[in-house]
Amino acid sequence: MEFQEVVRRRRMVRNFDLDRRVDDAVRDRILRNAMRGPSAGFSQGFEFLVCESASERERFWLATWPPEDDERLPHLVGMRRAPLVVVALSNKDVYLDRYAEADKGWSDRDEARWPVPYWDIDAGFASLLMLLTVVDEGLGACFFGISPERIPGFRDAFGVPEGLNPIGALCIGHRAPDAPSPSIPGRRKQMADVVHLGRW
Ligand SMILES: Cc1cc2nc3c(=O)[nH]c(=O)nc-3n(C[C@H](O)[C@H](O)[C@H](O)COP(=O)(O)O)c2cc1C
Repeated sequence: MEFQEVVRRRRMVRNFDLDRRVDDAVRDRILRNAMRGPSAGFSQGFEFLVCESASERERFWLATWPPEDDERLPHLVGMRRAPLVVVALSNKDVYLDRYAEADKGWSDRDEARWPVPYWDIDAGFASLLMLLTVVDEGLGACFFGISPERIPGFRDAFGVPEGLNPIGALCIGHRAPDAPSPSIPGRRKQMADVVHLGRW
């Protein structure tokens, strides 16, 4: 697909065809493209958890967005139909270690020097590459967060090593009819409100 078409078509999809799985080759392309993302100091401090079997997906949803949430967030029903869930996790320690190496010149691991958490940014960049690859493959996906109070349960359920933090997850699959995000199309901001030429 032409690049501009990929960008134009990208939107969060919240309902999936339960009976159509994602081909292994497509899944691998999505993950390989994520690994091509930029990272500060080429630290590559991101990892991905892939939940594909019915039991893995059920474990994921029960730990993060269980059925008791459906009344408040009805779109969860459609999202849970996705045959593939990928969780993006960031590892802050990898960055603190990398920037304490000789070529970076910071001799300690002081977090105060970091303008923003680059570890989370890089996992977000990787996630966007996955979202774009999904569109290029003619599939749909939604990126969503995991509530802070559910993160300990998620860690236990999957044996997530200390130091790795989930920045969000993508449910991925063949699209089924759904309602677009409320931001489409009327709520998208105008360029003049967002872009400042030269100065404010
Ligand atoms: C960091 C982040 C967190 C998000 N969390 C959720 C979420 O928890 N549930 C959800 O349905 N959508 C979530 N979204 C999707 C946004 O609602 C969506 O991107 C926005 O409404 C714009 O719509 P579009 O992406 O379909 O163009 C999230 C998006 C981002 C970037």
